[in-house]
Amino acid sequence: MLHLISLENWSTELIEEVLALAAKIKKTPGDYADAMHRKTLMMIFEKPSLRTRVSFETGVTQMGGHAIFYDLATSPLSSGKENVEDLVRVVCRYVDIIMGRLFEQMHIEEMARLSRVPVINALTNYEHPCQILADLQTVAEKKGKLAGLKLAYVGDGNNNVTHSLLFGCAKVGMHISVGCPKGAEYSPMEEVVASAKKAAAKTGAKISIVQDPAAAVKNADVVYTDSWMSYHIPEHKKDARVKVFHPYQVNAELMKHAAPDAIFMNCLPAMRGFEQTADVIDGPQSVVFDEAENRLHVQKAIMVKLLAEASR
Ligand code: CP
Ligand code: NVA
Repeated sequence: MLHLISLENWSTELIEEVLALAAKIKKTPGDYADAMHRKTLMMIFEKPSLRTRVSFETGVTQMGGHAIFYDLATSPLSSGKENVEDLVRVVCRYVDIIMGRLFEQMHIEEMARLSRVPVINALTNYEHPCQILADLQTVAEKKGKLAGLKLAYVGDGNNNVTHSLLFGCAKVGMHISVGCPKGAEYSPMEEVVASAKKAAAKTGAKISIVQDPAAAVKNADVVYTDSWMSYHIPEHKKDARVKVFHPYQVNAELMKHAAPDAIFMNCLPAMRGFEQTADVIDGPQSVVFDEAENRLHVQKAIMVKLLAEASR
């Protein structure tokens, strides 16, 4: 059974196939109007969402299926009356495909292990693979290629988006430079960097983790940042984190170090005046809304591919 739990175990070929399918679906959506006819997607949410919820639900509707929004806060699981293993063993007997936005990577992995139907990771504390597939689609559209480009990620390095970018860039041969503060709390997990470097050795991608934001951004084709206060970070850490991350803010000054035609990306939600300034995110180099749109197209491609594999 093919799932999308992590980009770590998705091959370059599989990523490229899904990106090509996403481009096709975006161009001729009508050709896929029945691709999920009478199919049901279960969407399990333990954290907030705008893009993920609306793009998945809309994508299923556009392909003739039905999506169920299921809030874990109102489930027997949250009151301790049921466990995650039983939840997935039950729902996979009703629905055709499951996606989960959960805190723990371990829980989405457990779901995939126990499910009879494909499972999609729609964000955990550890990874956000759907986002990075949409990002790669966006970069390919804007730059006409992926391999050989340089992406600079600046800000919170110990982050789901950073981890998935490390895997995704490595797999498609895109160089990635992460600029983040020193220390395990702010840096990508060591095992992620080691695994991404292994994948990069096969594709020629270069991976570097640096503390100097200007060095990270130097000559980059893509400058990427994400929230300093991810959903799972407790509010009491805000002041300390704003202080630590402030030197990594993407502003006009930092953008000067990138290639003159660099694009700016943020998976959103974004806070103007924090991880980037308003002039950058609302300026001519920003592609954040095209990036957000591509969540819809790429997730349709992911579902079509996983359902096709499941029916083989
Ligand atoms: N980028 C993203 O996943 O956004 P949401 O948290 O709104 O789903
Ligand atoms: N790193 C962010 C991504 C939001 C889509 C978070 O986990 O909140």
